[in-house]
Amino acid sequence: MNVNAPAYVKNPKLVAWVAEMAALCKPDTVYWCDGSQEEYDRLCQQLVDAGTFTKLNAAKRPNSFLACSDPSDVARVEDRTYICSEKKENAGPTNNWMAPAEMRATLNPLFDGCMKGRTMYVVPFSMGPMGSHIAHVGIELSDSAYVAVNQRIMTRMGKAVFDVIGTDGAFVPCVHTVGAPLAAGQADVKWPCSKTKYIVHFPETREIWSYGSGYGGNALLGKKCFALRIASNMGRAASEGPSGNPGWLAEHMLILGVTNPQGKKYHVAAAFPSACGKTNFSMLVPPEGFDGWKVTTIGDDIAWIKPNADGKLYAINPEAGYFGVAPGTNFHTNPNCMASLDKDVIFTNVALTDDGDVWWEGMEKDTGKLPDHLIDWQGKDWTPAIAKETGAKAAHPNARFTVAATNNPALDSQWDDANGVAIDAFIFGGRRSTTVPLVTEARSWTEGVYMAATMGSETTAAAAGQQGVVRRDPFAMLPFMGYNMSDYFQHWLDMGDKLATAGAKLPSIYCVNWFRKGEDGKFVWPGYGENMRVLKWMIDRIEGQAQGAENVFGVSPTYDEINWTGLNFTADQFKTVTSIDKAAWVDELKLHEELFTQLAYHLPVEMTATKVALAARLEA
Ligand code: GTP
Ligand code: SPV
Ligand code: MN
Repeated sequence: MNVNAPAYVKNPKLVAWVAEMAALCKPDTVYWCDGSQEEYDRLCQQLVDAGTFTKLNAAKRPNSFLACSDPSDVARVEDRTYICSEKKENAGPTNNWMAPAEMRATLNPLFDGCMKGRTMYVVPFSMGPMGSHIAHVGIELSDSAYVAVNQRIMTRMGKAVFDVIGTDGAFVPCVHTVGAPLAAGQADVKWPCSKTKYIVHFPETREIWSYGSGYGGNALLGKKCFALRIASNMGRAASEGPSGNPGWLAEHMLILGVTNPQGKKYHVAAAFPSACGKTNFSMLVPPEGFDGWKVTTIGDDIAWIKPNADGKLYAINPEAGYFGVAPGTNFHTNPNCMASLDKDVIFTNVALTDDGDVWWEGMEKDTGKLPDHLIDWQGKDWTPAIAKETGAKAAHPNARFTVAATNNPALDSQWDDANGVAIDAFIFGGRRSTTVPLVTEARSWTEGVYMAATMGSETTAAAAGQQGVVRRDPFAMLPFMGYNMSDYFQHWLDMGDKLATAGAKLPSIYCVNWFRKGEDGKFVWPGYGENMRVLKWMIDRIEGQAQGAENVFGVSPTYDEINWTGLNFTADQFKTVTSIDKAAWVDELKLHEELFTQLAYHLPVEMTATKVALAARLEA
C-alpha cells in the first residue's frame, strides 16, 4: 500500500512499517501528523463535526472541548493488559502474560481490517525534550483523531521527530485502534470502541499494540505503555552486560522543585498510585507559615531517571502535558491546576453546564453551591435533586483533563531541561485509611526499597474494577511494570549499590500517607497545600536540622519538628496520623509476606532480610 509519506520522512524502515500496518488495518486513508496548530484546530473541528467533541463557551473556556466516552470505556483495563515476553518469568507474577507468537496470532485477525472506513493517523512523538540523551521517540498509528489531538498536548508531537529518527534511528512502534471498523455507508458513533480490548506490550521487540479502547492510558500509548512498561525494560536492559552502566529508571512519579526562602532549591520525585495525589503534590501552593517557599512542577505523572557522571540521579518528565483527574480539583485543593485549565483544554467525561462550561464534583467548594442543572457525562439531565435521589455523579470519578504543561503557572523553569534535575529525595505514598503513618524516613536505601516494594494502596476509579480495596502496589508500579517485579526491586538495589560504590550520596527515601481516617471516617490530615509541612520536614532532615524519632518502621518527625504556623493541628491529631499500631503492623507484615510469596522467584534476599528485622523490632 502506498502510504504517501511526506518527503521529510527519510527512514525506509519506518515507511515500510507504516505500509505494512496500513495493509493489515486497511484504513481508507493514511494521514501524517505534522503537529502544527493549524492541524490541531482542524482535527478538533472534525471531532466537533463528528459529535465526539462539544466546543465549550469561548468566553469562559477559550479553545476548549468536552468529550464524553462510551460508558464502558472510562478507565485503564488492567485485566486486558499484557506483557508478552518470550519467557513467562520475565513478565513475572504481577502481569498478564501470553507467548508472543500466540498473542500475535490473536491480534492479527483482530487488526485485519480494523480501520476500515477510518483514517490512520501517523503520530510522531518524543518522550522527553527532543534530542535529550534521556529521551526516546515513538510513532503511534491510530484511527482516532481524539488520540492525535491528545498526543499533541501530552507529548512533543510533530514532524521534528522525523529529524531525530533520521534515516536509521530507532523508534518505538505503537499501533492503536478503537476496534470499530465502518462498513460502506455505516454511520459512526460519537465514541467508537470495542467490547474486546487488548493492551499489549512486546518488551523484546519494544512494540505496543492496543485494541478496542479510546481512553487515556489505553490509547495514548506514549504514556503508560511506552513511558512506563516499555521504558522500564529499556532502563533495565541498559544495566545489563559488562559495561558497569547502572542503567536507568522509568517511574510512576511526579517531579517537583522546592525552593526555600534563602533560594536553595531541592528536587523531589514522588510515586503515588493512580488518583492518589501526584498532580496535586506537584503543583502544591505552600500554606500560611511558609513565606518565601516555592514549589514548581517538573512533571505530574512519570519520571525517567538516569545517573549522571557526577553520581547523582537526574530526572526528566517524558511528557509535555497533564492527563489529570478532574473530580476533587478546585481552588482550595489545587489553585495552580485550576489556573492551568483556563484555556486550551480537552476535558473527558466531566459535566456540561447550561452556559457551555464544565463542572465536576468538588467545584461546589469554590462557589458554595451546586449548579441548578447540568448535562452529566453520559448526556443525561443532572440536578441536585436527581443527585440526591439516585447518587448520580455529574462527572465520572475518573473524568480527566488534557492540558499542556506550559499552561501551568507553577511550571518549573527547568521542566524542559534536556539534562533533567538532580533528585534529592524519593517519596512513596499509598492511600491507606489505617496503619501507615503520615511520614517515615527510611534509614537506608535498602529499607527505602523495602518500603516502596511493600506499599499498599486502596484501589481507585483510575482502573476498571472494584474500588477501595487495599492491594499491594509496589513503587505505585503494579499496573505499569514492564518486566518481572522482583527483578525490578533488584534493579533499584543494584543502582543504589553502584552509585554508593562510586561515592555518591543517594537520595533520601520517605514513605508518606495523606489518607489516614479518624473514627468519624474522615481524613484526619488536611492534605493538599498542608503537605508542605511534611515536605519541609524532609528538607530539614536532608539538611541535618531535624533529628526525628526512630520507630520500628523508620524515622518520623516529632510534633515539635513540624512548622504548624497557620494550621490548628493538635498533638493528639498528630498522634492519630503518626501512631504505629503494633497489632495492625503484625497484620500488615502478613500482607508483605503474601506479596513476597507471590514474588518468590528472583526476590532479592535483602527484601526478606528487611522484613525479618522489621518483624523482630515489632516483637521487641
Ligand atoms: P493519576 O493521574 O491517576 O496517576 O493520579 P494522581 O496521582 O496524579 O492523582 P491526583 O493528584 O489527580 O489526585 C486524585 C485524587 O486524590 C483527587 O480526588 C484529589 O482530590 C485527591 N487528593 C490529592 N491530594 C490529596 C491530599 O493531600 N489529601 C487528600 N485527602 N486527598 C488528596
Ligand atoms: C493513571 O491511571 O495512573 C493515569 C491515567 O495517570 S491513565 O493515563 O489513563 O493511565
Ligand atoms: Mn498515573
